Amino acid sequence: MDARVAVLASGSGTNLQALLDDPVIRPWIALVVSDRPEAYAIERARTAGVPTVVHEKGPRGDDAFGRALVSVLRDHHVDTVVLAGFMRVVGPAFVDAFEGRILNVHPALLPAFPGAHAVADALAHAVKVTGVTVHLVDEEVDHGPIVFQEAIPVRDDDVWDTLEPRVHEVEHRLLPAALRALVEGRLKVEGRRVHVLEMPA
Ligand code: GAR
Repeated sequence: MDARVAVLASGSGTNLQALLDDPVIRPWIALVVSDRPEAYAIERARTAGVPTVVHEKGPRGDDAFGRALVSVLRDHHVDTVVLAGFMRVVGPAFVDAFEGRILNVHPALLPAFPGAHAVADALAHAVKVTGVTVHLVDEEVDHGPIVFQEAIPVRDDDVWDTLEPRVHEVEHRLLPAALRALVEGRLKVEGRRVHVLEMPA
């Protein structure tokens, strides 16, 4: 099995690290892209010896950002993309260019709490259950066919500092599993529904 995966990350990059730590996935990671030069994800990539690109040009909401990003990824012969805490909208041209090959991890049970503050939003709404979603990306933000979801109970005394680590723990399991399934051709998409096939024994 072969793939050239770009991981896009804006922040600390713990999800990137989970991918780098997976011995099957590590050789697939061809590039790490961040929109923030100071993102710790860039440091993690450098430590792992993975090429990095900082791509911060283009106003928010402008499809030019996504189009420029497509050409960066094409230059590196990337065929698969993981949005691992990438806090910019990639836009329709980008989604079109990598159709069916973009995964996103989100810290809530979508369609609940899309956006950049899902853990805080779950706490603010005092929900009893939140969770993690890994999905294929379509043209809407935090939207597209769902690959995996896992629920996480919210305790009455939870605050961001206690809930967020439990969310991350689940993300670090589900995201590598979803990427392996995508690259190994084990995701069958029928409309909105994704069937995840088991690895043949
Ligand atoms: C993760 O919790 C990810 O689900 C979230 O950003 C965090 C990045 O953490 N993404 C979103 O909220 C997308 N809407 P990390 O930098 O430690 O991987």
